[in-house]
Amino acid sequence: MSAMRGEFSSRIGFVLAAAGSAVGLGNIWGFPTQAASNGGAAFLLVYLVLAFSLAYPALMAELIIGRHAHANAVTALKGIAPGPGSRRLGAATGGAGFIVASLILSFYAIVAGWMIAHLLAAMAELAGARATANWLVEFTLPRNVLFMGLFMALTVGIIRGGVSAGIERWSRRLMPTLLVTLVLLVGYVLTLEGAMTGLKIYLLPDFKALLSPQLIISALGAAFFSLSLGVGTMLVYGSYISDRENLPVLGGVVTLVDISIAVMAGFLVLPAMYVALHNGVDIFTAGGALISEDTLIFTVLPALFETMGFTGSLVALVFFFLMTVAALTSSISMLEVPVAYTIESSAISRRRAAAGIGALISLISLAILLNFEFLFGFVVSLTTRYAQPLLGFMYCLFCGWLWHRDSILQELRRGSPDAGNTLFWKLWPGYVRYVCPAIILLIFLHSLLG
Ligand code: TRP
Repeated sequence: MSAMRGEFSSRIGFVLAAAGSAVGLGNIWGFPTQAASNGGAAFLLVYLVLAFSLAYPALMAELIIGRHAHANAVTALKGIAPGPGSRRLGAATGGAGFIVASLILSFYAIVAGWMIAHLLAAMAELAGARATANWLVEFTLPRNVLFMGLFMALTVGIIRGGVSAGIERWSRRLMPTLLVTLVLLVGYVLTLEGAMTGLKIYLLPDFKALLSPQLIISALGAAFFSLSLGVGTMLVYGSYISDRENLPVLGGVVTLVDISIAVMAGFLVLPAMYVALHNGVDIFTAGGALISEDTLIFTVLPALFETMGFTGSLVALVFFFLMTVAALTSSISMLEVPVAYTIESSAISRRRAAAGIGALISLISLAILLNFEFLFGFVVSLTTRYAQPLLGFMYCLFCGWLWHRDSILQELRRGSPDAGNTLFWKLWPGYVRYVCPAIILLIFLHSLLG
């Protein structure tokens, strides 16, 4: 079977693909605004600590299991389970990941569709087609369905190509594009009047906020979502890594890239908000907090671009292009989870599986769009607040308690013969066994009760 499976053709190919999965709307949209409303640099500090001490070990659990099994999440977890009961638990965890990844994609595609619509609106604006531009930014069912479908078609198109000719090839093209675009935008926004006020808010920590449980919970949730953990995405990408590679190092690089891009996005979004304020755009809610989430992206920023005239349309074009690229390298990693399982457990071809599952998920997106008020928020919090941490907990359980420690070390030694003497091996086993599950559980209970 392994001869038929795809594999990343190079180290950098894997790093770009996994970082592409990790870097998405969560980094550019979620992180900066959460930082803004949670004490600026204090949030940044907590986020950095949690990302390295909790999210990185959880990421490693997925990568190691995946590389060991060279198989989809269901087969992989069944394979490392020591007995019949834990085999069933493994199949259930893998299967739940299949469903949760599909549900995350169903709402992600809706949001990503808006990004494409705003990208085209900026082009229409530049071409002088006002009416078209207005239609593109208006929240209507036809527009939402059209662009969700378009985004899903792009995602399916890449996944049909397979691991090296689809995921890796496109990540290699899109990730450098994303980085260059982001750097250019940050550079430009920082030159504008008002930007420095935003920078101060971002970089001066409000230490009072540091110890609030709310802040810690938001930061951990953000770190988990940002590293694409819990649903088997990273497990599946790990299963395409060659046995020669040193896993802890690769995982560390992916974590670093993900964090750096989130931090860099903060240098764009917060200064931009205060530039908007300087230009007369309202950036505070009635309660006095900074406007965040969808209102920020689809109201404050477009209003800012509007105040900048022609340049504004140009900047809007670049910004929404960046968002679309970031979303696409993430969405392919979500679709790969159900596709990998389907092609490895049935006779269905990759092309058919990608198209069929893509169509099914589009139907779910359509159902969400038809009942937007009720379903959108529900699916988002069901998957990201509850399912993701819970499944992350299960992966730690498998790696820390059920899988034999010697087999883990053996797996690590394939890519680095000295793995037994590294700092990673001194710390990580205890982390996945005790620290990660305990903290995930604590946070889960807190969000259940709060
Ligand atoms: N990490 C991505 C972001 O920051 C989103 C993402 C990709 C994801 N794959 C995932 C989230 C799997 C949860 C599970 O936007």
